[in-house]
Amino acid sequence: MASNKNLLMLPGDGIGPEVCGEVRKVLDWMDKRRAVTFDVKEDLVGGAAYDAHGVSVRDDTVEDAKNADAVLFGAVGGPQYDSLPWDVRPEAGLLRLRKDLDLFANLRPAVTFDALLDASTLKPEVIQGLDIMIVRELTAGVYFGEPRGMQTLPDGTERCIDTQSYTKAEIERVADVAFDLARKRGKKVTSAEKANVMKTGVFWRETVAEVHKKGGYDDIELGNMYADNCAMQLVRNPKQFDVIVCDNLFGDILSDVAAMLTGSLGMLPSASLGAVDETGRRKALYEPVHGSAPDIAGQGMANPFAMLLSFAMCLRYSFDLQEDADLIEQAAQAVLSQGVRTGDIMTPGCEQVSTREMGDRLIAELDKRAA
Ligand code: IPM
Ligand code: MN
Repeated sequence: MASNKNLLMLPGDGIGPEVCGEVRKVLDWMDKRRAVTFDVKEDLVGGAAYDAHGVSVRDDTVEDAKNADAVLFGAVGGPQYDSLPWDVRPEAGLLRLRKDLDLFANLRPAVTFDALLDASTLKPEVIQGLDIMIVRELTAGVYFGEPRGMQTLPDGTERCIDTQSYTKAEIERVADVAFDLARKRGKKVTSAEKANVMKTGVFWRETVAEVHKKGGYDDIELGNMYADNCAMQLVRNPKQFDVIVCDNLFGDILSDVAAMLTGSLGMLPSASLGAVDETGRRKALYEPVHGSAPDIAGQGMANPFAMLLSFAMCLRYSFDLQEDADLIEQAAQAVLSQGVRTGDIMTPGCEQVSTREMGDRLIAELDKRAA
């Protein structure tokens, strides 16, 4: 029977295919045990697409991504692709998907699992109970600003330019997402920019304040912070934050910092969302915050949790399957409490398992819970 839930899976490069394989297991499990069936189409992206088609993402794939209810994205990149022409480098495929699907709001939650407190390089009391959400603007800023590239000045000097650029609407819509999310959480938004140095920083700060005032968000506390201070505060006292909203580049950096608070980049999921359309639908792509980790690819060493938890976010945000999302998150908690670990979060006294075994343990926990 055809389902009304269409997923496009783009495993990509490096450890992408391995971690996506574990999501496949959960999809099968949901089909059998929860009677929730997805139609899954799979395609190439990044270096894998380049090897097969000479581009980092095909036009057809972008169309499929637009038509799918959600895209599950693994990771892209690898040293063998480092010298490819700029337009076909693996990352270009991901950036095109974000841009063409207009996925402007990137949600990156950093939540600590009690069982992993020892895996973090920070003191347990600093991170215990941490639950923050970074809302990163994803389709503008220096990632896409024009002009960009090399120039030769009249005197022969070579110069290179990237452009940080934001329209008011681009800031407003991501600020709205941040305030709406904060309302369902700790009711606090910190906006991070460099208003002390950048004109776009001043504009960002003013626009976020305006959205706060005019958008009916009186119940939400808004604070501003310079992005460098925010990075420092994240390491010093991360529990002061609830939702952090920032531009594309600062969000890239701050979310890596936040990831390490939880013990490993291998634990952090993300959701990239578009605007809600007239039918109530919104385009979405779910991906782990970690990259393709070519050094450990193909060895069964990767931590599949960031991908599995990204799938849980997909159930929550794209399909409103809250109960199933909870099940996966609780099963993940349980597996970790049993001392089961992949190499990246291994601590003495725990049991080290492979990517696949980790997926199997999660399924076993799901079985117990959905009895
Ligand atoms: C991320 C990644 C990407 C980014 C790369 C792979 C283009 O680092 O999703 O954080 O810089 O946005
Ligand atoms: Mn990044």
